[in-house]
Amino acid sequence: MKKQILSGIQPSGILTLGNYLGALRNWVKIQNDYDCKFFVADLHSITVDQDPEQLRKNIKSVIMQYLACGLDPEKNTIFIQSHVHEHAELGWILNCSTYMGELSRMTQFKDKSKKQENVKVGLFDYPVLMAADILLYDADFVPVGQDQKQHLEIARDIAKRFNSTYKKEIFKLPEGYITENTAKIMSLQEPTKKMSKSDENKEATIFLLDDRATVLKKVKKAVTDSENVIKYSEEKPGIKNLMNIYSAVTDKTYSQIEEEFKGIGYGKFKEDVASAISDILDPIQEKYNQMLLPENDEYIKNICKKGADVAQKIAQEKLKEVYEAVGFVTK
Ligand code: TRP
Repeated sequence: MKKQILSGIQPSGILTLGNYLGALRNWVKIQNDYDCKFFVADLHSITVDQDPEQLRKNIKSVIMQYLACGLDPEKNTIFIQSHVHEHAELGWILNCSTYMGELSRMTQFKDKSKKQENVKVGLFDYPVLMAADILLYDADFVPVGQDQKQHLEIARDIAKRFNSTYKKEIFKLPEGYITENTAKIMSLQEPTKKMSKSDENKEATIFLLDDRATVLKKVKKAVTDSENVIKYSEEKPGIKNLMNIYSAVTDKTYSQIEEEFKGIGYGKFKEDVASAISDILDPIQEKYNQMLLPENDEYIKNICKKGADVAQKIAQEKLKEVYEAVGFVTK
């Protein structure tokens, strides 16, 4: 039996180079070795305001970007979270095993709620829904970035508490899945902050669908320092970030990169970084454009439908167990 892996990305915009290098590229690598489920976290995305028409587009687009990046629908279960209503249902049950105090301590909630006037209950509750996503499928491993580790921890806490309250090992305790050389890609404009698809400043982020000219423009504008020396150092977050990106897309080590750009200034370095990024993005965009063709509409719909059917079978079973454990009666 292969181990279970589950992960998802919110459809809050076009995916970024950070999503690709930090997540998707690794998902593609592990798809043969694990039983993987990858979903689009649309229920999570409405915890902040979304324009409905834009959201509809983004959900479909993320599915197509998954496929364009190389996720194989024959090997993985690919689905849209809201197609499997058990996620929301288990979320409710788990709400009743979660403390206000522990949710109040989530750093992502604290950060996001600071930026808003009317903070929604859904934003506060976000980690519980995420726990439901994970626990429904007995995930052994959850590939998540650093920023989601706390959410994984709380999922484990909730699972443990539920199991002990109802004296039954209903939920498996998930572990983080940390791959080697997973690149953490930072904002081009504020290189101490993670690159994010919802950054207000579009120049901070390279999107998977940016063309060569746009990538070049953004990399050229990337914040660096005035030293004009390509050296990997914590004190040079801008250059460090560009080196990280270059290393991730070319597989070169930091010392190889330092060697390659010895005596060469930031101008040329940035051009080479931009070009290396686009070399990775070109084939992804080619596949994506293919999928955009109207004749592929059905194909994509079918993948989502098949994925949701597979996921739902498993989710239903788990939810049934949960309902029994808490004392609900059958129809
Ligand atoms: N919170 C995750 C993010 O923003 C997305 C997500 C939702 C997720 N549910 C999940 C990731 C379950 C892993 C497992 O990146």
